[in-house]
Amino acid sequence: MDNILTFKNVDGGYGRVKILHDLSFEVRKGEVLGVVGPNGCGKTTMFNALIGLITPTAGEIIFKGKNITKVSANDRARMGIGRTYQVPRPFEGMTVFENVLVACCHGAGMTEHAGRPKALEILKLTGLYEKREIMAGELTLLDRKRLEIARALGTNPELLLLDEVAAGLVEAEVGEVIDMVADLKAAGYTIIWIEHVIDVMLKATDRVMCMSDGTDLLIGEPREVMESKIVTEVYLGVEDDE
Ligand SMILES: Nc1ncnc2c1ncn2[C@@H]1O[C@H](COP(=O)(O)OP(=O)(O)OP(=O)(O)O)[C@@H](O)[C@H]1O
Ligand SMILES: [Mg+2]
Repeated sequence: MDNILTFKNVDGGYGRVKILHDLSFEVRKGEVLGVVGPNGCGKTTMFNALIGLITPTAGEIIFKGKNITKVSANDRARMGIGRTYQVPRPFEGMTVFENVLVACCHGAGMTEHAGRPKALEILKLTGLYEKREIMAGELTLLDRKRLEIARALGTNPELLLLDEVAAGLVEAEVGEVIDMVADLKAAGYTIIWIEHVIDVMLKATDRVMCMSDGTDLLIGEPREVMESKIVTEVYLGVEDDE
């Protein structure tokens, strides 16, 4: 099976407010799919539909060949979907190691005995091993982003959802996040990465989807998508005057 995930004509939103409209796309196993689109176009809402925080009112979500449209958020996490939050949510009064251990034990249901080596492995993969005994609340922004990813990995996902993990970082730090995501891809994770940073889309992704008004406007090779007239127009908010 080539695709790990398929959205088929998904509609959904919050209460009566419809945000996603006929959203359709596929994610190939092992790829990094970048997602761009103007503020408020529904990118985070797409993640919410994917993890089961909101239930689509129409359409289907297929993960690893199973229709998960009505599967609970907990079961989806157990099936292998892990996310980061746009606003990081670490336990600030716990150490970096304890934060990841909690994710392993509560997220992936591991015993503390099994969770400890797993947490250390994740800390190495995310570049936090040397900082494992530091309180999460004392980390720099870059390390908080690393920890956010490490906590998501603790839930043992196959599909990892990154929501603006590079936002607020300076260029050199963004480069470090790009390198880390390349390591995660090499380690076998499939990744969907929402970000507004053009460099991320061009350097870190295999394909890019541009969303607009809750739907898939364009999906394809990163440079082609980022340089296309229609994507430039939705970002600049230019009206089509034809
Ligand atoms: N919990 C909620 N209840 C009601 N409306 C919401 C909720 N969360 C988001 N929205 C609305 O849904 C729309 C899409 O929001 P969403 O967060 O998905 O956008 P986004 O593409 O992730 O934007 P950004 O790039 O700013 O993160 C926005 O109009 C937003 O105000
Ligand atoms: Mg968002």
